[in-house]
Amino acid sequence: MKKIYILSVLALISSCSAFKASIPYEKEIRFVNLAPGETREDHEKLTKDISIATQGRFASQAAYSIFKKGGNIIDAATTASFVLAVERPQSTGLGGGGFALFHDVKRNKDFPLTVDFREKAPIDAHEKMFLDDKGEVISRMSLDGIFSAGVPGMVAGMLELHKKHGKLPLAMVLKDAIDLARNGFKIYPELAHAISKRENIIKRYKATCEIFCNKKGEVLKEGDLLVQKDLAKTIETISKNGRDGFYKGRIARALVGEHRRLKGLMTQKDLDKYEVKYRTPIRGDYKGYEVFSMSPPSSGGVHIVEILNILRKDDLKTYGLQHSKTVHLRASAMQAAFSDRANYLGDTDFTYVPVTGLTSKKYADDIRFSIPENKALNSLWANMNDPFKFDAKEGRELLKRHESNETTHFTIADGKGNIFVSTQTLNGYLGSGVVVPGTGILLNNEMDDFATKPGANNLFGAVGGEKNLVQPEKRPLSSMSPTIVMKDGKPVLGLGSPSGTRILTCVVQTIMNYIDHNLPLYESMAATRVHHQWKPNILYVEESGLPERTIKELKRMEHEIEYKKLGCRVQAISFEDGMLRGVSDIRGRGLVSGE
Ligand code: DON
Repeated sequence: MKKIYILSVLALISSCSAFKASIPYEKEIRFVNLAPGETREDHEKLTKDISIATQGRFASQAAYSIFKKGGNIIDAATTASFVLAVERPQSTGLGGGGFALFHDVKRNKDFPLTVDFREKAPIDAHEKMFLDDKGEVISRMSLDGIFSAGVPGMVAGMLELHKKHGKLPLAMVLKDAIDLARNGFKIYPELAHAISKRENIIKRYKATCEIFCNKKGEVLKEGDLLVQKDLAKTIETISKNGRDGFYKGRIARALVGEHRRLKGLMTQKDLDKYEVKYRTPIRGDYKGYEVFSMSPPSSGGVHIVEILNILRKDDLKTYGLQHSKTVHLRASAMQAAFSDRANYLGDTDFTYVPVTGLTSKKYADDIRFSIPENKALNSLWANMNDPFKFDAKEGRELLKRHESNETTHFTIADGKGNIFVSTQTLNGYLGSGVVVPGTGILLNNEMDDFATKPGANNLFGAVGGEKNLVQPEKRPLSSMSPTIVMKDGKPVLGLGSPSGTRILTCVVQTIMNYIDHNLPLYESMAATRVHHQWKPNILYVEESGLPERTIKELKRMEHEIEYKKLGCRVQAISFEDGMLRGVSDIRGRGLVSGE
């Protein structure tokens, strides 16, 4: 009797609070505003046969035109990758790498093909390469210059995909990238910002300044023409000779020669041994949907599934999207995931990662049980899981400095139900800053994604553990999360984003906004995002904010809140009643093309 009484009181309390919570909060959702002069139609398109969402206007148009010429989505994806490399040198390029998931209806498998063309450490790289004699991290060595570059994978990855799954000749698919590099284009604000941020490093390398400086030796500005003649020639060589056009011959010699000149580590053997790897995607199920995302060496898929598992039994829709409880639970699940990231994640070809455990529902339930309902997981909790000494102040500064519009994601889907999602990067703005003379190739600074020593944090403030230390030929831990959501074996949504550690939290929030809160895709992406990465112990909220009451209650729960641009630029496509809805994040200058 007593038990029944208690249960009914609890039910009453929870239904009252649900009622109170859902009405004002649902009405009060805060969204990011469109930039002045822009309309919703600039970022969203409903089409039938093809949809292409990229961060580059030229890339979306070129990929669409290759489809119109009879190409399939892999032809379009190859075009998009190379045009993006020309159009967004701050983000991606032939000297970088990435990941892709491809749901190919003809392949008839119940999971997408999962491709890893991430950069790898050179054979001569080693655990202490970024440390001085005293064992201290040498400032910026993993970020600037020749040692920061890993062996590039982008050309190998996209060319292999094109060879196996493309339809049109490579020369046709790469033509628009060659023309754009040769004819040039006007520098747009995001690119101008990146160039100004990297002014010092651009001026340090003659071949870099030849591209990004004017005749007076000043860095280029918004509105100036960016011409990349050498890059045009390089892409032309690749279009003739395929993979060997990059990993062997003149271009390879130039790349290895520049390493030798600057006393770097990369040799021809590194290029010969570069392999594209096929992975098993991380798989989870969430409220009736199946989620497929990138496996290690990315941490993205593991933690997206972990966060979804932790929250899978919570009725977030009833609480309301921006109710303090929803935000608190999301933030706490993110916090737990990032603590695991630091402790357990690395390249599975080199170190054991407990993927099954981390993505199990049992483990998620234990975490959910340990999240207090009305109190932030405080730093005490975080420190209990922290095997490292950590300078919280340093982490905060690193994060504050960084807004990240580097890296790029694109999604392409067709009316037959095929979908391709890929995230590609040089890591930081203009990667290492080193252009290989005579080739136009800007090398990545992906080595910074390794832990330079246990407990050190990278450009994004992410704490690195033993499992992510540098080893010869190992791939650095990533957060990139190309993701496909399916139902009954058919794709429902494909998405991904740039922005370092924020990638996985932006992707998971978009999925939850779409599935739990039933928001249209555009609103799922436009709603204010939050981010928590365990270290530092701060709940980041986008500047568009959250309802006042939410903020008040989160503070009462002892969340330390900081407003911040999170840098995500989600590019997503949903399948809706036989149509394709493409949305390019309103926070960026992307474009959806298609018909
Ligand atoms: O692989 C990673 O997680 C990072 N190198 C990605 C870098 C990134 O997203 C930069 N920002 N937009």
